[in-house]
Amino acid sequence: MKSPQIISSNYIIRPFKKEDALLWQTWDIDPEIQVYMPEPKNEVHDISIQYEYIGECENDEDGYYWSIETKDGATIGTVSLFEINPYHKTADLGIVIGDKEYWGKGVATEVINTIKEHAFNTLGIERINAEVEEENIPMKKVFEKTGFKQDGIFKNARIKNGKRINVLHFGICNTK
Ligand SMILES: CC(C)(COP(=O)(O)OP(=O)(O)OC[C@H]1O[C@@H](n2cnc3c(N)ncnc32)[C@H](O)[C@@H]1OP(=O)(O)O)[C@@H](O)C(=O)NCCC(=O)NCCS
Repeated sequence: MKSPQIISSNYIIRPFKKEDALLWQTWDIDPEIQVYMPEPKNEVHDISIQYEYIGECENDEDGYYWSIETKDGATIGTVSLFEINPYHKTADLGIVIGDKEYWGKGVATEVINTIKEHAFNTLGIERINAEVEEENIPMKKVFEKTGFKQDGIFKNARIKNGKRINVLHFGICNTK
């Protein structure tokens, strides 16, 4: 689906551009960025595969995919609503702030609050789901700050560094 441009107080949340793929190549091999990802890449994908991915996102009928840009034009991350289920009015949320200079400055909190309002008020989504590895403290904090509640735990759900680890399930619903 075509992702609309959304403006928050400090960021422009816009559809992907081809140039974004070059940044993703650097984020994909940064161990600090990859550490809590479901399947850490730690390898550079050929740029043609990244371009293919942009095309797949644009054609995905069940998802919206955006880059996060500062108002002075720096591209610093991505955010998505995917696996949208129009019957149950649900969506999954994913976010990466790939420019580490911006970590701990409230970017994810502002962007998720903005995407949440867009989902509830414009897209008619009533519940947003998200998964986070138990040790991802910053992401758990972001969910707390944006009103998500932990409502489940998948024990031993993933393998990290040879060990089975837990994944927490978070959600937020706009109905009581
Ligand atoms: C997780 C992530 C999205 C957070 O983005 P962010 O813009 O830095 O988040 P915010 O600044 O809005 O909030 C982060 C909070 O965690 C806190 N924090 C960060 N590291 C911490 C740590 N080691 N221990 C305790 N708190 C920590 C920050 O202080 C901040 O809380 P505060 O506002 O109360 O001070 C970002 O670190 C990231 O993209 N990481 C790599 C990819 C990833 O893990 N994505 C999520 C997969 S589910």
